[in-house]
Amino acid sequence: MKSIRDLKIVSTDEIAQGIFALVLERHPDFGDLKPGQFFNLALKSRELPLLKRPISLSTWDDQTMTFVIRKVGKGTELLCAAKPGEWVSAVGPLGNGFDLAQTPSAATLLGGGIGTAPLLALAEALSAAGTKVNVYLGYLNEPYLIEAFKAVADGLFIATMEPVEGFYHGNVVEYWMNQESGVTQRHVYSCGPDAMLHMVQLSLKSRGQKGHLLTEERMACGIGACLTCAKPIEQDGEVHMLRTCIEGPVFKAEEVVFNANE
Ligand SMILES: Cc1cc2nc3c(=O)[nH]c(=O)nc-3n(C[C@H](O)[C@H](O)[C@H](O)COP(=O)(O)OP(=O)(O)OC[C@H]3O[C@@H](n4cnc5c(N)ncnc54)[C@H](O)[C@@H]3O)c2cc1C
Ligand code: FES
Repeated sequence: MKSIRDLKIVSTDEIAQGIFALVLERHPDFGDLKPGQFFNLALKSRELPLLKRPISLSTWDDQTMTFVIRKVGKGTELLCAAKPGEWVSAVGPLGNGFDLAQTPSAATLLGGGIGTAPLLALAEALSAAGTKVNVYLGYLNEPYLIEAFKAVADGLFIATMEPVEGFYHGNVVEYWMNQESGVTQRHVYSCGPDAMLHMVQLSLKSRGQKGHLLTEERMACGIGACLTCAKPIEQDGEVHMLRTCIEGPVFKAEEVVFNANE
């Protein structure tokens, strides 16, 4: 259930350059969590005047919730530099998350950069539900979360934009298209930069394949009140401005209206 709670930091670890795993104590008031949901987080002791920052759940267990954070500005810098024992103010769980009421028999997960993180919980949930899960992860040059994905994926495929020994060199979407050429029955779930999601959308359309995209939008309130996160979504032939923090951040792949330049 959506709540605001102060959570103690269990650990913060730099898992790749500028990428941190933040582990927080889980509060029972948050209730059930879904892959694809996010929390608005701010370091408690230095909260004002910073807005809370939206960060996706990467994984969780009964006691803890793990967030994987890329340090890009002041808010994420404070979260990444926090120490065990400090407190984070957390609002959540927010957003619709992935609908797993009916799970596909086979799925392909496509993640790019920090967009790989929320797919971990999805891979875990799908695998537990008996879905055969192939995971494709794309990075610039330093893969992370690999061992965690390896533990649940039936097939794990890593691509790096810069050449790194042992990994496919190039775009992760092209890697998937080549590897699964002609395989269109798998449900595709993707999270990454808009340019990547747009490419996934176009690829799915050309292959007649179904999928869902976990999208990102700049946010302020995170609870549906300010419309900062409104995103054009096409449903039944009409474009609606839907709030990424309430109706999203997960949408059917064919519904998301991307800027033609993306
Ligand atoms: C639903 C959702 C889930 C997210 N999940 C994660 C996650 O799991 N891990 C993670 O590291 N980040 C995630 N983000 C992005 C994260 O919220 C932003 O990086 C963060 O708010 C930046 O705050 P800042 O104060 O550090 O940087 P700012 O000072 O606010 O900005 C620094 C730079 O980052 C860019 N930036 C800020 N916000 C975003 C954004 N939403 N998307 C793209 N660029 C942005 C700005 O344009 C600027 O160039 C998510 C965002 C959304 C909306
Ligand atoms: S961030 Fe305010 S409505 Fe979504």
